Parts: sequence; C-alpha cells; structure tokens
Amino acid sequence: MDFISTKKIPTEVGIKIDNPNASKKVYIETYGCQMNVSDSEIVVSILAENNYQTTDDIKEADLIFVNTCSIRENAETRIRGRLSVFRQEKKRKPDLIIGVIGCMAERLKEKLLEEEKLVDLVIGPDAYRNLPELIAEAEAGQKAVNVLLSREETYADISPIRYASNGVSAFVSIMRGCDNMCTYCVVPFTRGRERSRNPKSILREVEQLVADGYKEVTLLGQNVDKYSWENEDGSKLNFANLLDLTAKVDTKLRVRFSTSYPQDMNDEVLQTMAKHNNICKHIHLPVQSGSTRILDLMKRGYSQKWYLGRIEAIKKIIPECSISTDVIVGFCTETEEDHQETLKVMQEVGYDFAYMFKYSERPNTFAQRRLSDDVPEDIKTRRLNEIIALQQELSEKAKAKDVGNIYEVLIEGTSKKSEEELVGRTSQNKTVVFPKGNHKKGDFVNVKILRNTSATLIGELVN
Ligand code: 5AD
Ligand code: SF4
Repeated sequence: MDFISTKKIPTEVGIKIDNPNASKKVYIETYGCQMNVSDSEIVVSILAENNYQTTDDIKEADLIFVNTCSIRENAETRIRGRLSVFRQEKKRKPDLIIGVIGCMAERLKEKLLEEEKLVDLVIGPDAYRNLPELIAEAEAGQKAVNVLLSREETYADISPIRYASNGVSAFVSIMRGCDNMCTYCVVPFTRGRERSRNPKSILREVEQLVADGYKEVTLLGQNVDKYSWENEDGSKLNFANLLDLTAKVDTKLRVRFSTSYPQDMNDEVLQTMAKHNNICKHIHLPVQSGSTRILDLMKRGYSQKWYLGRIEAIKKIIPECSISTDVIVGFCTETEEDHQETLKVMQEVGYDFAYMFKYSERPNTFAQRRLSDDVPEDIKTRRLNEIIALQQELSEKAKAKDVGNIYEVLIEGTSKKSEEELVGRTSQNKTVVFPKGNHKKGDFVNVKILRNTSATLIGELVN
C-alpha cells in the first residue's frame, strides 16, 4: 500500500455533503493508508443513514471513531496516544461513545477492550454494515465487538460520502484484502482474503464522481494487479481491462491507481497506461529490499533481477513515467551486503520518490514466528538514514530534470505558503506551485517549471 500518514483528514468547508439533518455527531480520525481513508468514507455514509453527521470539533461529538493502522508498532503507539486524549473527553462527557475501527481493531479484537478501558466499540474492516446495531448496543451501555472477516464484502453498493475531500480527487476502492502473505506484513490478518469489487459498481461510482465535478480518481487495492472479475457469461476482466474501461468513462478524467505488485504488474497494464492520455504516468512499485536473499525471506516472489526487469519495461513502454517505491531496512538477517544491494537498486532505478521504513516486527506474522528480528536498532537507524540520504539526492535529481519542461497540472487548491499561489500535481504525481493568475481549484493548466526545491516544483503559467 501507499503512504502511511497519521493526520486527521483535512476537512474543507463547503464540500461536506453528509447528512445535515442528523441530530448526532461523529468525529472521525483516520490513520494508515489510502484504503483506510476510503473506508472512513464508507463508514460516514453508513452513519449518515443512521442520524449522524460529521464534525471537526471533538467537543461536540457524540461518537468518536478512530480508523486505525497496525502496519508498524509506532503506528499503533501513536493511536494509543490519541486514545488517551479521547479519554479526557469521555471524562467530561460520560455518554460519549468511542470506537476503534479498522486494522488495529481487527488485530487486537476483544483484547483492545481490556487494554483500553474507555473504548466502547471494536469493529473490523469487514463489519461496517453492522455499525448501526453495534452503536445501538454501545448506546445501551454495552461494549460491542465485531471483527468477522468476510470473503465477499466489498461495500460495492454503498456510495462513499467524501466528507473530507477537496472536491477534485477521490479514491475508489476496487478490491479488498490481500493474499500475498509477505512474511513481515500484518495486512492479510487485518484485512482478510483478497476479493474484487463488481466492475459495474466501480464504473458507476466513477461516472457519479465525474457528474459531481471530480477531475481525478485513484483506483485502490492492496495489489491492484490481481484484480479479477468473472462476468455472468463466463468472460473475465483483469486490471488492465478495468483500467481501460475507467479511462474511457471520460477522457478528461485523470486516472491513477495504487498499489502495484512487482510480481504481478504485467506489460498489458503498462500498454493500457501508454494508450490513454488520461491515465497518469506514475507507478508506485514497492521494492522492499534490493537483495534477492532478503526478498526470498520476505516471500515477495521476485528477485532483484525480476524487479529491475519490470522497471526496464516501464521505462521502455512509458518513458515519461515516474516511479516511486517502499523500502524496508533491517529485515531479519539483513547484512551490510544486502543493504548495499538495496542502495544499488535505488541508484539504478532512480526513484522519483520513496517511503522508507525500519523493519517493525508484527505479532503472528511468519517473520515473527519463524525468523529473528536480529538487526540491532542502531544499525537499522543508520541504514535508514543512508537510504533517506540517497533518496533525497535521487528526488532532487529527478526534479531538477523537470526544470524547463511544461506540464499539465490539475489544481488542487491554494498553496500553504501564499494565497496568491496555487498548488497541483502533474501526471507524474509531482507537486507544482505557481502564481494563481485567474485559475481555481479543479482547473487543468499548463505550467512551465522554473526551479525546484527538494519536495516541490516551482513554475509559471503558460498558454
Ligand atoms: N515493518 C516495516 N515496514 C512495513 N511495511 C509493511 N509491513 C512492515 C513492517 N512490518 C511497509 C512496506 C509496505 C508499506 C505500506 O509499509 O514497505 O509497502
Ligand atoms: Fe492500511 Fe491496515 Fe495496512 Fe495500515 S495495516 S497500511 S491501515 S491495510
């Protein structure tokens, strides 16, 4: 999956479209991946049908939901810190209901009620349809838990309420769960088996987004390349087919997707990207490690050579494509030579961007049960610092190459630094800041890149 953030989803006034007549209020904080952001929109949609509207003000909430992430220990630690803040609220307002939903709920189940005494509800990612009953139980003074995982649930028929959206880009979930069983990863345990969503409901959702004025969609799944649907007549749809159909909904709609898996990302997907102007030229292809020995221990199913072959295919079929990745340092038994292999792969690919992590042992994973988390913390830290420093150079280089070029930018809003500047992204997913002219959020503009900082491109409008 893509990036792990801990921020509350920013809410902009004016585009909140949840139930304004509801008499109760929910305050929801979302941690973890984009999938969780998308799930929170499903949750808000279910709540809106049940007399709840969202609020940004924790003080006026009747219900607090934390949509949680278990991917690394520090994600869970941070969330527990937030729970202790909510405890203060509950002291002030004893009727307040506090619910933990998502991956941490699924991982810890009833144990969470013992560990966190203030929590009233524990609800796993496949149990959101039961929210009304579970909330009713909590309102009646009982603790309630539902952490059943499903083989079918995709929430296909539920229209997400994009309560925190910028009104320009939206996530569309196309599948749930993960069957990969990478040895370090908690996701198969927290999100269950892999299942694809009916393409009709996906395309309907995309059409509705276009009708609502959205300009960009991101198709989401833990491993989008495994998307697979069998029609009633026995014909099949794979991810490339779905991408093709999504791009055809509206040739002006930008289409992104995340996350690709090196083992499964095939040339058909790349050719589909190349064929459609409106499919964004960016691929997030997590490498995790550059060492084939470590990749084997991670059970990733590919070697360094295979991975570099996929990169070569991207560069050949879509030369203008940007590439980002995830890297884990300090996985079980990782030696200095393994680490050097990771640095070598990073150099060779020349990533535009990378999310980098220290290995964090997760309970019940294969790695926790069978391998030893034996790389000392100080070595993990040093290796992490080394890959961060290298990536900084690579990002800088990649951005410097863009200077002088003209890119189409989709405007997402006003720059944080100045009201007079707008911010948006290129097809390659690079952030560009430029003077506003008479443009606004949601417009497509052409911008010539004049210079760059380490994180941003700075440009000027051109016709
Ligand atoms: N420790 C550190 N990083 C992890 N990731 C997944 N599991 C772990 C773990 N146990 C990283 C991977 C993945 C990203 C979402 O988080 O790089 O791609
Ligand atoms: Fe997303 Fe859950 Fe994985 Fe966190 S643990 S990144 S929330 S799937």
